[in-house]
Amino acid sequence: MWRVIFFFLVIVDSLVLGQLCTNDTEYQCKCKQWTDGESHLPVDVVDCSGLKIDTFPNIIEEYINYLSLSVNNIEVLDPKEQKLSSTDLNILILSYNKIHSISDEFFLNVNNLRELDLSYNYITTLGDGNIFQNLNQLTRLDLSYNSIKTLPDTVFGTLVNIRYLNMSYNAIGNFLTSSKDVLTQKLGISVNITHLSLNGLNITDLPSGYFDNFTNMKYLSLSDNAFTNIPAVPYSIEYLDISGNNITYISARYLNYHSLKVLKLNRMPSLTNIHHYAFYNLFNLEELSISDCPNVNNFSYLAFDVASKNTNLHPKYLSLARNGLTTLNESYKYFFNNMDKVDLRHNPWKCDCDILWLMEFESILYQSHEIKCYAPDDIKYKSLIDLKENDLVECHPEIYGKKSHRILIVILVSTVIVLCGLIFYLMKYPQSWLGTNHVVGPNSPYNLASTSEHI
Ligand SMILES: *[C@@H]1O[C@H](CO)[C@@H](O)[C@H](O)[C@H]1NC(C)=O
Ligand SMILES: *[C@@H]1O[C@H](CO)[C@@H](O)[C@H](O)[C@H]1NC(C)=O
Ligand SMILES: *[C@@H]1O[C@H](CO)[C@@H](O)[C@H](O)[C@H]1NC(C)=O
Ligand SMILES: *[C@@H]1O[C@H](CO)[C@@H](O)[C@H](O)[C@H]1NC(C)=O
Ligand SMILES: *[C@@H]1O[C@H](CO)[C@@H](O)[C@H](O)[C@H]1NC(C)=O
Ligand SMILES: *[C@@H]1O[C@H](CO)[C@@H](O)[C@H](O)[C@H]1NC(C)=O
Ligand SMILES: *[C@@H]1O[C@H](CO)[C@@H](O)[C@H](O)[C@H]1NC(C)=O
Ligand SMILES: *[C@@H]1O[C@H](CO)[C@@H](O)[C@H](O)[C@H]1NC(C)=O
Repeated sequence: MWRVIFFFLVIVDSLVLGQLCTNDTEYQCKCKQWTDGESHLPVDVVDCSGLKIDTFPNIIEEYINYLSLSVNNIEVLDPKEQKLSSTDLNILILSYNKIHSISDEFFLNVNNLRELDLSYNYITTLGDGNIFQNLNQLTRLDLSYNSIKTLPDTVFGTLVNIRYLNMSYNAIGNFLTSSKDVLTQKLGISVNITHLSLNGLNITDLPSGYFDNFTNMKYLSLSDNAFTNIPAVPYSIEYLDISGNNITYISARYLNYHSLKVLKLNRMPSLTNIHHYAFYNLFNLEELSISDCPNVNNFSYLAFDVASKNTNLHPKYLSLARNGLTTLNESYKYFFNNMDKVDLRHNPWKCDCDILWLMEFESILYQSHEIKCYAPDDIKYKSLIDLKENDLVECHPEIYGKKSHRILIVILVSTVIVLCGLIFYLMKYPQSWLGTNHVVGPNSPYNLASTSEHI
């Protein structure tokens, strides 16, 4: 929750904190005192990012709580060269350096460290496994974007309070999937961990039962791997990101998580099929995102069961942006009525009467003007929201009448015109048609009286 905490941090004052902060040292860090939004305690923050520092500073003043050395050129963390010793240091950010070597003793004397960010460095391994031995207060550890290929046994075993662990974008995929108990028995990751990120590790499959013991896991990110199916994840999961994998279909068989709130299935050209009832078991789903999947070209009206009947599901946010969808069944309006935001942009929508129902949901459609017709040709690239009655006349029988009625009217009108013409002709040239000889009159051979006389 550090992100949240920092969101509430209020800048109180800028004060000179000493060595790292005075102008007359080699460092010109930004030094501030903040008030922690939750505890209301002052937090001494020293930001030494982007100062081209190439060795870890020799003295870190005792009272510093938060130290960022991000975006510098530090290569080695070794107490023989620079000692790190502080009981007040809670957060240490070392991301975006050139760290390739960390001594086992370096973190021995920062017992109250709660957050350690080593992302974006050149780390290949972590010593002999004692590197974190005194960090039993550590809750967050970020090792992402390094070159870690393997890790020593029980390296995380002393981190009894770890909740957030990020090992994304390393070369550690094969190591991590070599047996089902690598995370627990071999590396000693606490089963109380809540957030785990294993993105970009080229993992194709997990040994069965891999996450069995992580009964507190809430957040799991497995994006940018090579999974061909959604793997089995802890039942307690609330956030799951499987984007950027090689999944071809989505089925309820792999999605039976009753606490899941957020599901991300983005960036998958391989995805073609979303089965009926795929999301049927996700009773707590609040957010579903299936975007940048160009081969998803229909979104089953039964993906969540029959929308009009399903009262168990209450998604609040849906993204189907940048797929290959041409239409969306009107039954989704039962969901849309209760949703906060729907993103349908950049699909090749076919604008016909079946899709016009979307227009009544303009208020929840994200950037609604970007929802454009791709067909038919005469309204291509026009925003669905901007369509006028005369763009799709057949959808407005109340104004233009039904097509069958319009044809009938045309036929009737032409018949009337022809008849009028005929009548006019007859009135103007009555004799030319009947002929003078045929006029019935007293002298005519057709005279009824004269014929009756002959009888
Ligand atoms: C330190 O340097 C900054 C600018 O680099 C200046 O604004 C500030 O007054 C200096 N502080 C002291 C105490 O010299
Ligand atoms: C590592 O994962 C955590 C979530 O567990 C996330 O907050 C953090 O931003 C990730 N680090 C990087 C560098 O993306
Ligand atoms: C889960 O915990 C049990 C008991 O500690 C252990 O025997 C088993 O190997 C663990 N499973 C995994 C996948 O780590
Ligand atoms: C996990 O948390 C429970 C209680 O919250 C605690 O009893 C248990 O010792 C913890 N396990 C580990 C491995 O830290
Ligand atoms: C991913 O793993 C496959 C084998 O499973 C391998 O052929 C491929 O080179 C790996 N890709 C990367 C980027 O490591
Ligand atoms: C994805 O899976 C298919 C087989 O299902 C395979 O042919 C293809 O090479 C895989 N692509 C990647 C990027 O792993
Ligand atoms: C789209 O519909 C076709 C045929 O109705 C079906 O074969 C295909 O799997 C569907 N695709 C998706 C993404 O549901
Ligand atoms: C749209 O959904 C209804 C059920 O609400 C269904 O009867 C109909 O077949 C669906 N239309 C298409 C084109 O899938």
